[in-house]
Amino acid sequence: MAIIITGGTGKTSSRIARISLDAKIPFLIASRKGQDGVPSGMPAVKFDWFDPTTFENPFQYKFANGENITAVYLVHPGQGDPKDFMNPFIDIAFKKYGVHKFVLLAGSTITNGGYFMGQVWKHLFELQVEHNILLATWFMENFTEWLHPTSIKQENKFYTACGDGKIPFVSADDIAASAFHCLTGTKPHQGYRILGPELLTMDEAAAKISKALGRTIRHVKLPDEESTKRFQEFGLAEDRAKFMTGLETGTAAGAEGNFGAGSVRELIGRPPMTFDEWAQKNKNAWN
Ligand SMILES: NC(=O)c1ccc[n+]([C@@H]2O[C@H](COP(=O)([O-])OP(=O)(O)OC[C@H]3O[C@@H](n4cnc5c(N)ncnc54)[C@H](OP(=O)(O)O)[C@@H]3O)[C@@H](O)[C@H]2O)c1
Repeated sequence: MAIIITGGTGKTSSRIARISLDAKIPFLIASRKGQDGVPSGMPAVKFDWFDPTTFENPFQYKFANGENITAVYLVHPGQGDPKDFMNPFIDIAFKKYGVHKFVLLAGSTITNGGYFMGQVWKHLFELQVEHNILLATWFMENFTEWLHPTSIKQENKFYTACGDGKIPFVSADDIAASAFHCLTGTKPHQGYRILGPELLTMDEAAAKISKALGRTIRHVKLPDEESTKRFQEFGLAEDRAKFMTGLETGTAAGAEGNFGAGSVRELIGRPPMTFDEWAQKNKNAWN
């Protein structure tokens, strides 16, 4: 058994690599940076979703004990229509190299055959290959590793168009643990909602970060256009910035608030981390 982890050095992929290393499960990180960009002791190859000449690199890698690649973790790179590049890669992995299991990270509102990652889910379904789709809500790590840490540190504020929408925030640790169990075990081929244990608004998340930090952090509610502008300033292309604003305004309208308990406990055998536990553990990121 060996697993390929796309999404390189990203929030969930880096954690799956760490869990795999600790569990002594052979793995390979597929990153734009190749071996140079990953922590020492972690094997990696150069892989770029927008350069198909790199798609076979993971399959050329020789594992120490000749292990075969049995499963692939699929992460969207943050731009582009996923069916255009993920489906061709899945075809190579499945048809040419015999990979029989795929675990796909997607957003919580994705459906089989629906928009965006729904077209990758549909492709896996039609290939009749083993697949687990992780339908994740907003990550807690957006406050520490992505959108919000700089403004929290510099202005004691973060900005969203999520309004007062409720969100079952989940930690990347719990997503990674869920993914690891899917990659290395046998779970029914279906979508799993990957959610945290409590519904919170962004204002309530700000209050919890404030409590952990001992200083007041404020959530600033943005109108749509301001949100798109902010995403663009953050480096996203205009279409992706509008897409992300759509996710935030969908959240404001209640899109994340009605999913029930989610599947983390079922997948990993323990409850997901609460926001308070997570904020306490990660508070140094805001100092
Ligand atoms: N953040 C959230 O709250 C959230 C919620 C639900 C779903 N999701 C979904 O989760 C996925 C990942 O989002 P994320 O925010 O967690 O990002 P992330 O995994 O932290 O970052 C994406 C990673 O993809 C790799 N990458 C970027 N461009 C690439 C390319 N051209 N080819 C190959 N790899 C590339 C990068 O690693 P290297 O630099 O090492 O190549 C990067 O670290 C997205 O599909 C997103 O829609 C995110």
